[in-house]
Amino acid sequence: QSGYVTLDIGYKNTGATKSAITFLDGELGILKYRGYPIEQLAEKSSFIEVAYLLIYGALPTEQQLTDFQYEISRYTLVHEDMKKFFDGFPSKSHPMGQLSSLVCALSAFYPESLKPIQTNEEVHLSIIKVLAKMATLVSWIYKKSLGHPVIYPRNKYDYVTNFLYMTFGQRTEEIEIDPVVVSAMNVLLILHADHEQNCSTSTVRIVGSSESNIYASVSAGISALWGPLHGGANQAVIEMLEKIKEDGGDTDKWIAKAKDKNDPFRLMGFGHRVYKNFDPRAKIIKKACDDILEKLGIDDEVLDIAKKLEEVALKDPYFVERKLYPNVDFYSGIIYRALGFPTDMFTVLFALGRLPGWIAQWKEMKDNKEPIGRPRQIYTGATTRDYVDIASR
Ligand code: SDX
Repeated sequence: QSGYVTLDIGYKNTGATKSAITFLDGELGILKYRGYPIEQLAEKSSFIEVAYLLIYGALPTEQQLTDFQYEISRYTLVHEDMKKFFDGFPSKSHPMGQLSSLVCALSAFYPESLKPIQTNEEVHLSIIKVLAKMATLVSWIYKKSLGHPVIYPRNKYDYVTNFLYMTFGQRTEEIEIDPVVVSAMNVLLILHADHEQNCSTSTVRIVGSSESNIYASVSAGISALWGPLHGGANQAVIEMLEKIKEDGGDTDKWIAKAKDKNDPFRLMGFGHRVYKNFDPRAKIIKKACDDILEKLGIDDEVLDIAKKLEEVALKDPYFVERKLYPNVDFYSGIIYRALGFPTDMFTVLFALGRLPGWIAQWKEMKDNKEPIGRPRQIYTGATTRDYVDIASR
């Protein structure tokens, strides 16, 4: 569709990855999950329905969605022994380091997931378990950061409501989950659900290609997403906006810093490896930002700073010539903050959103029986030379 050419030079699995899951066109700013435009899914679908679509390739019937949600609800509890790993982390350690470790640790409790050859039912069950348990782990990490007791899942709730209940619920009283927050969380998670062969998804595929289990593969994806150039950007954007606010909101000064080659500062949330036009997700999130902050009655000064930065940058030749536009991370942190999440939880929320995409891509790689990944290299090192004794060096 966009002229992707697989460089077939006779080695297996070294060219472009072939995938039927997500299509994006960076020049036109198009993003589709299994052929469905992201704009329609964000407006009409739910996160768990999009998860089903990505993993199984079709929108579920009502019964299929009910069964999928019910199966997940059977596995939302995490083995109590997992708490021993959990309690070992310092309370202020970064949530991404905790999540990556805890997800990999799940493999210790499900030895059947270690079998290289699994039946379809075993693969399906491991998919259900990692979907169910990662939401619980994310909420537990948040509770630990507050020094609060963890909240156990309530399986009467749907996936996103259950996650919000475990995250913001209290042992001392029942809470009402605001439908505005549930709707906003669904949109954010849908927009993060998959994105073709980005850094973390490629990591999940290549780790899985060695027949490593789903927990280790997803854990590797979480580690790749942690970086500030990738999923960590949403946290870096808020930290940047806060710094500009503390500095008096002088956006021109910070735009100049971003353009200065002698200054390591980059405009976080701007630019993209593939999108050389507006990231379609950024457009949706920017509109959702206004809606949600208005509905929640929140006036966040950093949103005004973000809008001013965007306005100035989109007219500045430096950004225009380099086709640098706001990406998915530019506005998402402002909504997460409005929903009550602390900054260092933002990338973990990105991971929860990207989980169905990672799973779908891991499953596709296994279904296609792809050989072990072996990216090619172009050797640029020394030509042959003979060993020299240390005394002669
Ligand atoms: C995500 O791949 C995916 O799909 C990722 C993702 C997903 O859903 O999985 O979309 C999620 O990771 C979004 C990106 C989040 N990261 C950030 O917002 C960090 C800030 N952005 C940049 O670091 C950068 O734009 C990247 C890393 C995102 C993209 O880097 P590229 O395509 O390799 O661009 P580049 O580094 O080659 O830059 C090209 C030029 C350079 O200037 P020149 O050498 O041509 O003079 O643009 C400049 C760069 O210095 N540039 C920036 C800039 N981004 C690029 N200058 C200032 N601020 C920026 N943000």
